Parts: sequence; C-alpha cells; structure tokens
Amino acid sequence: MDLYEQSELAGAVVSNRAVFRPVRTNLAEDGAPTDELAAHLAARGRGGAGLVVGPAEMLVDGSASGPSYVDAYDPDVVPALAETVEAVHDTGSSIIGQLTHPGAEATGDAEMRAQRAPAAQPSTATYEMPTPMADDDLDALQESFVDAAENLVEAGFDGVELAAGPYAVLRQFLSPKFNTRDDEYGGDWESRARFVDETLAAVQSAVDVPVGLHLSLAELEYGGYEFEDVPDLLGALSGFDYLSCTVGTAATFAQTHAGVGAQAPGLPDAVATAADCVDVPVMGRAAYTDEETAEQLLDAGAEFVSFTRQLLADEASVRKWKNGERATRSIQSNQKCLEGVYGHAHGGHVECVVNPRTGRETELAPASDLPSAGLPQRVLVVGGGPAGMRFATLASRRGHDVTLREVRDELGGQLTLAAQGPLEPFSRAREDLEADLRDSAVTVELGTEVTTDDVDEEWDSVVVATGAPPSTTEHREFAGEVIDALDVLAGEADDELADAEDLLLLDENRWVITMQTGLDLAARGDLEIATADHYPGFRTEQPNLPGFVAGLQAQGATVTGNHDVDDVHEDGTVTLRNTLTGETVTRDPDAVVYAGRRSADESLYLKLADQRENVYRIGDAVSPRKLDRAYYDAEKLARRL
Ligand SMILES: Cc1cc2nc3c(=O)[nH]c(=O)nc-3n(C[C@H](O)[C@H](O)[C@H](O)COP(=O)(O)O)c2cc1C
Ligand code: SF4
Repeated sequence: MDLYEQSELAGAVVSNRAVFRPVRTNLAEDGAPTDELAAHLAARGRGGAGLVVGPAEMLVDGSASGPSYVDAYDPDVVPALAETVEAVHDTGSSIIGQLTHPGAEATGDAEMRAQRAPAAQPSTATYEMPTPMADDDLDALQESFVDAAENLVEAGFDGVELAAGPYAVLRQFLSPKFNTRDDEYGGDWESRARFVDETLAAVQSAVDVPVGLHLSLAELEYGGYEFEDVPDLLGALSGFDYLSCTVGTAATFAQTHAGVGAQAPGLPDAVATAADCVDVPVMGRAAYTDEETAEQLLDAGAEFVSFTRQLLADEASVRKWKNGERATRSIQSNQKCLEGVYGHAHGGHVECVVNPRTGRETELAPASDLPSAGLPQRVLVVGGGPAGMRFATLASRRGHDVTLREVRDELGGQLTLAAQGPLEPFSRAREDLEADLRDSAVTVELGTEVTTDDVDEEWDSVVVATGAPPSTTEHREFAGEVIDALDVLAGEADDELADAEDLLLLDENRWVITMQTGLDLAARGDLEIATADHYPGFRTEQPNLPGFVAGLQAQGATVTGNHDVDDVHEDGTVTLRNTLTGETVTRDPDAVVYAGRRSADESLYLKLADQRENVYRIGDAVSPRKLDRAYYDAEKLARRL
C-alpha cells in the first residue's frame, strides 16, 4: 500500500493515506474555533495531508471548558465550524470531526458541576473524584453525542469520529480500571462495551457520513486494559466505519506522545493485531510517526497513517516526501506543542520549536513563500548555532547576500552538546539546519573569529548570534572546586571524575541540562542531586519529565529537594540550606558538579551597536533561553530585514 495513493474511507474518496490527527491547540475562543484554528488545520491540508481530523477536543456537552475545547453541542457554534470545514476543503483535503466527553479525565470545577464518569474511579491526571453516571446521565450523554454529530454534519464535516482514546469517557466505559459499574454497562468485555456500541449505533442512525472510532489499543495504566486485550476489546465493539488507533490515557502522556527520554510503546504490532480483528479501514499511528514508521504501519495492515508532530514541524511534509524532497523533522522535544497546551507553559497555544509558523499560521506566511526583500543587503551573521543558521538561510532566501562566520570548525553551537543521550533526536534539528544552509546561497566561513575590527562598512547589517558560554558560578563565589555540567556532557571532565564515587550535582539550571547531566553522573557513581525546588529539573517539559525521573531512579540517584547550595568550601565539603526551614546540612562528596545558568555572550553585540547602525542580536546572545527562541528570533528578524 502506498502512502500517496488515492484512497477511500467508507465510500468517501481521500486524496492519499496521510492523516493529520487532532491536536489540542488552545486556539478556540468561547467554545468556537477561531480563524487561527481554521488556518492551522488548513495549512496541513495544503501541505498534503489527504485527511484532517479536527479540531481536537470537540465536546458533546459542557463537561469541560477553556481555549482547548470546541462546544460542538452548541448550534451557535455551527457557523464557525462550517468556516473551519470550508478552509480545509479549499485545500482539497477532507475533514472529519472528533467528538469527546472527558469523563473522569477532566475536572468539573470550571463549570460548577460535578464531573460525571462511568464510576467513582478517579484519574491520576486530575484531583477530583468523579460522580458515577446514573441512568438519566447515560441517556443524556448518548443524546449529546447524537446532537453534536448532527451539528458536525450540518457544518459540512465529511465524517464523525467518537473518541475512546485519552481524555475520553467512552474509553473509560471500556476500561476495567475506570468502569466498575455493577449494572448492564459494567462487568465483562461485552457489558463494558455496551454503552460505546449503543452510542455508535445511535450516531450511525442519525447521520449519513462515515462514523469512526478513535480507540486506545492499551491504556498503559496499572489495572487498565493492555495490548494483549486487543482481540477481546475489538471483539466486543461494533458499528464503526473505520478504526483510528491510539494508545494510553490522560495520565500516560509521556508514553502516548513519546518525546525525548520516554519509554515508547511499540505500536505497529498492536495495529497489526487490530487490523486482523476488524473488517473496516484502520488508521495507524506509532509512538512517533514519520515517513519511515508510516511504511511500517501500512505493512502492518493500516490503510491510513496518522501524523501529528511531524506535520506541526513541517506542515508540507507529505507533499515534500511525495516529491522526494526533504522535510524539516520534528525533534520529539514536546517543548512547544504539548508543553504549550498541557505543561508548565499551559496557557499558551500550540507551537513548534523548529517551525515558528505553527500556531501562528494567520500571522506568518510559510517560510517557503517569503517575499523577496525590498532592498537586498550584504549581511554578516556572526555565529553558526541554530539562531545564526536559521536566520542566514531565511535571509538568503529573501535575496540578501549573506555570509555566516563561525569561530569553531563546525556548525551547531550548543545543539551539538545537547543532542546526546535522551536528547539525541535534537541532532535532527542540527542536521536539518545545516542541510538548509547548504542548499542556500549563504557563504559559510568556519574557524573564523569576528572582532569589531573585522566589521567594516561593506556590511549593511550585522546579526550577532554568538550564543551563551557555559554556566557561570561567579555570582556564587564558591571557594571549592566545582565541575561545570556542560563540561561533563562535552566529555571534558572525565579525568576529574575518574576516581570519584560519591557525586553531588547542584541543580541551579532547573531544566533538562540537570536531568541529562544527572543521567551521565549516575552511570559513573553514587549520585545525589540537590535542588532548591521540590524535584530536580523542575522546569523540564512536563511530558518529558517522567522519562528522565524514571532513568535517574533506575540508576539509584537520590534527590534532596528544597535544598539550595549555600557554599562549596575549599576542602570540597558542601553546605546545603533547607529553603523552607533555613537549617543547613553538610555533604562531603568526591566531586561537585554544578548545573547552573548561563549568561549571554553579548560583548561583540554591545561594542558593535556602539559604533555602527543596523546591528541585531538573536538567540542566546540576547539571553540564554530555549531552542524555540533561537528559531523564533531568527525567523522574525529574517522576515523583517
Ligand atoms: C500538542 C498535541 C496535542 C494533542 N491533542 C490531542 C487531542 O486533543 N486529541 C487526540 O486524540 N490526540 C491528541 N494528540 C495526539 C496526537 O493526535 C497523536 O496521536 C500523537 O501526537 C502521536 O503521534 P505523532 O507521533 O505523530 O505526534 C495531541 C498531540 C499533540 C502533540
Ligand atoms: S515542539 Fe518539538 S515535538 Fe512538538 S512538533 Fe515541534 S519539534 Fe516536534
């Protein structure tokens, strides 16, 4: 089966077998999809996905609220939904709407109501004890699915999908963990599937478009159903025109959307089992789906393949692959997509580290369609890290005559250091940035330091992307010796660590550098991590955190939370201060490693800005931040110059 061939889904023609799955975007407003949300979905259609499933989180009743939810039950929302459908149809792609009710996997507090679920079995993703649904609730829920499905059909959707994946009451009915009812809707597989089957039948008889089921093939939670249950699970279910496979629950998103450092469930085998169990088309997904895993899924018996993060990273992936071109790859960072809508950064909207246009489709044109610069300039870029490379490529595409100088003999900057161990997928970013640069007309000069004397008037603009050097301990004025975490990661501290058995890692970085260094050190000796937060790497993207914590636990690392470093003494002992009580404790490790903060390397920028006009700085040279800011700064400047 070929990913790019025209296909058919329950009688409807679809231009190929590539599907953009729903992602929670936080781009809805007052329960209605916004123009931004429509543009976000349409961009994936224009980029080649034959089918778009979305918007995500379309509710059948008011069981949740916020900018991630679309009130599909509300007839007033139909016109906005129709505009979304039209935007996708205009690209030549089809669109199916997914309906859900989050049950025990959301809280009811926002709506001043109790959250209803199959049973009083809570999800670890929330703090609320759900109220078991009474018979009236079941009737009302079924009617809600029907009413909402009718709204979708009225809005012009090509199909309707009922959600029984993460965040879905229908999956909770199927689950031995969440459904402990003792009426005809609880008990064995047949009884637990009864409510889902009845709801599918009710929707089928109300609408004349394909009705699909989006189903977790395993819950991955203790007490839930497992991959080995797929034959029983699917044996009990009926009445759907296609099966969309997913995995997990709301509490397992570290595995569900496998990012860096996560244990990824092996989905292709489960998809193959599912395809054997049903006689309708199957949409497959892997733990992380790219062109290669798409082939595996098609070989496993799937007729369609769902992509999510890859199409956030490059909306035109499908079109490019089909034409034999290179697409920018997702780096599985989960940093701006999942973190943007679920994690610490919750409150933002969906974005992507390597594609600043994602979530800003109405504001930023595709990088491939940038208009030529009105006044082409000679531009000098100083620094070949991600910000410098990205800027240089885009500015050159716009017609500027760009030269990039890098003091080292290789490109990549801190990305090279970051892209190891669990963060190895980050190397895709470096490779893709380098490949884009190679394909551009930029002149690259490696091993070339730039001082103020080198910057004469021949350059119309100078862009300083000099990054940030390793972390500084100057503000702590430690008397004793500390090893910088970045030196550990660079392999430059091996001699100092050679005989050290008891290791103390001081976490002032509060992010993934601590976790990465921790994993490295825990493999060398007995490691204690001291942090002023409750746990180390506190600001690590939440979807990635469980994988790192599990790795540290597996290697026996211990954590002392709420303890800031007071001093590292000349004799090597360390005083830690309890941030809550002020009491101190002393440690006497063989080596102290410090994961700290970094300061921008801004000296060149400040000097140049003093002596000439048109000097800009981007990325960590502004302030050491995360990778997404390097891309974003570069993109913004390249578009405006
Ligand atoms: C930011 C983000 C939000 C998501 N929200 C939803 C959602 O609301 N409903 C859903 O069924 N899946 C959601 N997913 C899951 C994806 O549809 C997909 O199954 C998952 O990302 C794995 O596929 P991938 O490796 O192609 O990214 C979301 C994924 C991401 C990255
Ligand atoms: S933010 Fe990271 S994981 Fe998410 S789509 Fe972009 S590159 Fe992929």
